[in-house]
Amino acid sequence: MAGRIPQEFLDQLLGRVDLVEIVNARVPLRRAGREFVACCPFHAEKTPSFSVSPRKQFYHCFGCGVHGNAIGFLMAYERLEFPDAVEELARLAGLDLPQTPAGQSAAFSKPSLEWIARADHFFRQQLREHPLRQRAVDYLRQRGLTGQIANAFGIGYAPPGWENLGKALCEAGATAEDLVAAGLIGRDEQGRPRDRFRDRIIFPIRDRRGRVIAFGGRALDGDTAPKYLNSPETPLFHKGSELYGLYEARTHNQQLRRLLVVEGYMDVVALAQHDISYAVATLGTATTTEHVERLFRAVNDLIFCFDGDRAGRAAAWRALDATLPFLRDGRQVGFLFLPEGEDPDTLVRGEGRTAFEQRLEQVTPLAEYLFAELRAQADPNTLAGRARLAELARPLLEKLPDGHFRDLMEERLRHEAQLLSTRLRPPPSTATNPADRNLRLTRTPLRKAIALLLYKPELAQEVSESQLVFREEGKLGVKLLADMIAILRTNPNLTTAALLERYRGTPEGAILEQLAAWQLEVPEQNYQFEREFDDILGSLGYRDNLREHLPEMLLQRGSPRALSAEEREAVWNLGKAKKV
Ligand code: UTP
Ligand code: MN
Repeated sequence: MAGRIPQEFLDQLLGRVDLVEIVNARVPLRRAGREFVACCPFHAEKTPSFSVSPRKQFYHCFGCGVHGNAIGFLMAYERLEFPDAVEELARLAGLDLPQTPAGQSAAFSKPSLEWIARADHFFRQQLREHPLRQRAVDYLRQRGLTGQIANAFGIGYAPPGWENLGKALCEAGATAEDLVAAGLIGRDEQGRPRDRFRDRIIFPIRDRRGRVIAFGGRALDGDTAPKYLNSPETPLFHKGSELYGLYEARTHNQQLRRLLVVEGYMDVVALAQHDISYAVATLGTATTTEHVERLFRAVNDLIFCFDGDRAGRAAAWRALDATLPFLRDGRQVGFLFLPEGEDPDTLVRGEGRTAFEQRLEQVTPLAEYLFAELRAQADPNTLAGRARLAELARPLLEKLPDGHFRDLMEERLRHEAQLLSTRLRPPPSTATNPADRNLRLTRTPLRKAIALLLYKPELAQEVSESQLVFREEGKLGVKLLADMIAILRTNPNLTTAALLERYRGTPEGAILEQLAAWQLEVPEQNYQFEREFDDILGSLGYRDNLREHLPEMLLQRGSPRALSAEEREAVWNLGKAKKV
């Protein structure tokens, strides 16, 4: 997704908005020297360690270590995903999002989205108009659904027959290939196009922006196999990261407090029918870390709901495993195990909303569930059992992020296994003292140069061409610095925030964000940034390298003609530089 938004647009956007304004509208800021500060909105604190630099358009918290630019702030604060944060920021800046031109790299996904939308329309229309519609309507009634709820979820009907949808969409201009790519039709042995969904109730699956990206279809009788048929995986649809009903839950509720994760389409819809409109379903797959990440973007409170049988317990354990890395302080996870033979659909229909929600107040907290499962595998009444318990718990607790919750879980483990110490590896970052955090990357001249450049991107304009030519040689950090200089020279108006944006999600990006947060401790006035920057570049030996290695290179290649145009120009510049 990130790749679809053109770089130039992100540059322009980040150059237009003011992070101070954006943060201040949500977290009132106070001026402190050349920065603005507040109590960090991302962790509990009494004295402000959250600072926003107007110059760098970058925020950083010295307490909990979070940082980022305006896009990152909206993602974290408003719990938005990247494209949505960009959209929101564009709205604030009064910029129109660029439309992806058809026929470019997005050529595949663009038409398929459109055909999927048309298919969605077709299925809903069939539920209203097809001669056999009564069959489908009766089925939905018999499952306790009203037209209103069916409508809210956009439920449709795929009539029997091999080429209903295919024909309709081809008449509208689709090619069979478009529809195969969109997962709407397949081909039989003779290569004839065949509708994928036939005589099934259709549940449209929406992405987080409400666009239909796939379908699930339920057979109308008990004999047809499979009972549920889903769209195949396409570039638009990954079962392992989508959640049925998440879009609907977000739009039905002004303020989502918690989400209930269930197993089936019908569970989600039946719960909504009983006014429990915060349920989502995985799509016939185990809970993945992508699911959990997405869920925690929406709420801090998750309840996983599983059958009480063995398969349900196994699924619950996998869900637990997927949530551990995301259990920051303030987030919570509970497990609800259902009575044998029931699912949320049958249960809520049988006992009604109040009784069902009562169950949600009595869920098993993750910690209880985790230790109960471990105790079932290792007898805490024997010495060997306690050692085993600790052994089983260790890899699980190590997945937890640093924080009070992790500390409490480790304490609990010591208690459960009656240990003096749990001998866990230290958590990823133990620095609690702001100064320690700053020191995590030791100050080398190279890093200082990068930090200077992040503080004052204009510095790149002062670098002479000859310093850039042999940049491929040398350390990774040198390459990064040279890359940044090259980017800034071609885009002289880039802000620090826009420069950082180009490295989002990369290993370099993580380093750059830390360096952008460095306190440079330079005086505001009369500080010779250019001089210091140039000195460091000099000390990194660009020019020296060139001088030293040039004769050798020429020898190896036989004649100067073997040099590239770029290298020849560098030699030429070197000559000029020497004369000065
Ligand atoms: P279940 O078998 O528990 O069905 O499948 P259900 O949700 O209770 O459905 P009803 O009440 O009989 O209509 C749970 C989920 O597993 C996936 C679907 O996503 C379903 O909602 N599934 C199940 C499939 O993908 N294919 C199948 O054949 C069965
Ligand atoms: Mn069911």
